[in-house]
Formats: sequence, C-alpha cells, structure tokens
Amino acid sequence: MRAQKCFRIAAIPADGVGKEVIAAGRRVLDALADQSGRNPAGGAESSFGFEWREFPWGSEYYAAHGRMMDPEGLDVLRGFDAIYFGAVGWENVPDHVSLWGLRLNITQNFDQWANVRPVTFLPGIESPLRKADRMPLDWVVVRENSEGEYAGLGGRNLSGRGPGNEVAVQTALFTEKGCERIIRFAFDLARTRPVRKVSSVTKSNAQQYGSVLWDDVFKRVAADYPDVGTESVLVDAMSAKFVLHPEDLSVVVASNLFADILSDLGSALAGSLGLAASANLNPERRFPSMFEPVHGSAPDIAGRGICNPVGAILSAALMLDHLGLPAAARRLEAAVAAVTAAGIRTRDVGGSSDTEEVTNAVIEALRLTELSGSVSG
Ligand SMILES: NC(=O)c1ccc[n+]([C@@H]2O[C@H](COP(=O)([O-])OP(=O)(O)OC[C@H]3O[C@@H](n4cnc5c(N)ncnc54)[C@H](O)[C@@H]3O)[C@@H](O)[C@H]2O)c1
Repeated sequence: MRAQKCFRIAAIPADGVGKEVIAAGRRVLDALADQSGRNPAGGAESSFGFEWREFPWGSEYYAAHGRMMDPEGLDVLRGFDAIYFGAVGWENVPDHVSLWGLRLNITQNFDQWANVRPVTFLPGIESPLRKADRMPLDWVVVRENSEGEYAGLGGRNLSGRGPGNEVAVQTALFTEKGCERIIRFAFDLARTRPVRKVSSVTKSNAQQYGSVLWDDVFKRVAADYPDVGTESVLVDAMSAKFVLHPEDLSVVVASNLFADILSDLGSALAGSLGLAASANLNPERRFPSMFEPVHGSAPDIAGRGICNPVGAILSAALMLDHLGLPAAARRLEAAVAAVTAAGIRTRDVGGSSDTEEVTNAVIEALRLTELSGSVSG
C-alpha cells in the first residue's frame, strides 16, 4: 500500500557503532511504517512511510576526501524532513576535527539550539542507583546546543616562543537571547510533564559573567511560568543530586558543556550510555532537526554486532514525535520497554543478546501490539 505521508529522512551513520545502530533503527522505523500501511482505519497516523537517503560522511570519507562531509552537504540536507545520525569519531581523525567537521557543523549551521536528552529507566534494566528499584525515576536534560562552552571561540598562540610556551584561550559565549530561548523551551516542556518543575544548572559562584547572566534570565523567565516549580543548582551539586536525589528532577536545563556531562551521567545511572536518546531541535523548523543516540562511536566494541541499539531506536521515537506521529512514537517506546522487560538485552546492560536479536525483538513486539491492538497506532 502506498503511504499517505512519506517523510524524507537523511541517514548519516558515520563511524563505528553509529553504522550498526542506525541500520537497526532504520529497520524498526520501516517495520512501523509497514504496519501503518496495513492499518488504514487507524486515524491521522494510519499510513506513513520513509524515503531514506544515506550519506557516507564520517571518518572513512575524511580518509578519502580530506573532509568530513561534502562541501555542498548542508544544502543537500536542508531539503530533508529530518536527519537520523549515528556517531562520529575514529582514530584516523583528531576528535575535534571530526566533531566540528560533521556533527557540530550540522547542529550549529541548522541552529538546532535545543538538545533534548531524556533519562529513561527501562524495565528489566538494572540501575546502579538503589533508589531506582523503589520509585519511578524519569527526567529530561535540556541542553543549550548552539553556544556556551562549545561556541568554538578562542585560539592557540605564542608557540613561536618555543616548546612549553604555547597558550590557548577557549571562550564560552552566553547571549541573553540564547539563554532565554532554551530556558523558555525548558519551561514549556515542563508544562507537558507530570511534575512541572525546572532545575537550572550553572556555576555562577565561579563564572561571574556567563553563568550569572543565565541565572538572571532564568529568574526573569520563571516569572512567566508561576505554575512551574524552579530551583537553581550549581553544577557540582547537581551531579551529586543526580545520584542522591534524582526523584526531585523533572526538567534539567543547562549550558552546552554542563548538560553534555550531566546527560551522560544520567544515562549511566539508567544503566548504560547505549540506552540514551537525543533530539537536536530547530524548534522554529527553519532547518531539519537531527536525532541521534547520545553515545559515541564506541571503537572498543564497534564491528562486532554487540552494541546496544536502544539509544538509537528511542531517538527514532523522538523523531516520530517531531514528525507529528506521537502515537507511533509511544508504540515504539512501549515495544522497547516490552523487550527489556522480557530480559532481551545487550551485554552493556547485563544481557547476552546481540544488536540484531534486540532489534528483531523490538520489531516482533511491534507486530504483537499491532495484532492485539493493545497500543493504538
Ligand atoms: N555524538 C557523537 O557523535 C559522539 C559523542 C561522544 C563521543 N563521540 C566520539 O566517539 C569516540 C569514542 O568516544 P568515547 O569512547 O568517549 O565514548 P563512547 O560513547 O563511544 O563510548 C563510551 C563507552 O560506552 C560504551 N558504549 C557506547 N555506545 C554503546 C552502545 N550503543 N552499546 C553498548 N555500549 C556502548 C562504549 O563501549 C564505551 O565503553 C570518540 O571519537 C568521540 O569523540 C562522538
């Protein structure tokens, strides 16, 4: 059956396990689309499909072409409905070259200023947090994704003075507009969640310019959301709070670097880096948004077929939400939870299944919910 709505998706698997998890996520998304075509009475989401185009950009492309992506690449990507990204980084290219040449090139130029990183505790997956057994834990890290510590401002100089004398300056950029848009985004997100609370994270005792501007904007924006609880926490204290009092968290908003670190901590607390999903959003939709697992290319396990595809699959669910397919997104999340609850897990979360077995199990769980109709789509 021909899909009523066909979404054009650019797939950029890039390096290492990125290739494996994007292949897995594509299979799951195509299975969902296939089911939607067999369910013509299912409402607005009844029939959708994906037209994929895969790009070979990454560290192998760099080896052949001396650059991480095609010079016209951004113009080509602009025409897609979304980008599905794996991970970048391999030993043949310095990490700062590969990251700036591909992933940051896209997030910065497409003004994907909001990076949403849910911390999701899945059934059947052991958390190192004892509290996770006793209470439901669930929070979202909202990362400012366009400036802050990753603005790329600075330089290296004075190497001419001889060995040992070089200096480097790396400047963080905090603009009032940049702070305001991400903080408002966090408050709007909090209003959609069961617990309406935003925790703002800075280091304003030591960083008296950027962090204090952020804190001032946070206070000003909070006044527009009297129905949302707030707290301002220093980043060192927040890292302790993630471990000791995670039940207090709902939406955590922070600058580029702080949220990057905190979200890795969050995914480790949920059981593994391989579980964590993320969305790089251009909320105004002037550019395509990009969906990717939080993890990197994992060279230590790449190419062995054992990486965890869950982070990439849950990133696909975030993409479905962005494409206006929330029922399909919820079905996909429910299928992943059914699979982990059934004990079908990769090694990083204590299981013995490989990437393909977990992916097949998610597709099978989707098929079962289609047959039983227990989760509508
Ligand atoms: N968004 C990105 O593209 C991104 C993010 C982080 C790191 N990187 C790059 O990735 C490379 C490796 O970096 P790293 O080792 O610091 O971080 P990493 O996330 O690749 O790996 C950290 C640890 O987590 C494990 N892990 C990661 N993904 C997993 C998965 N899907 N299933 C099971 N285990 C998984 C790895 O085996 C490793 O032990 C570097 O080149 C780095 O620059 C890229």
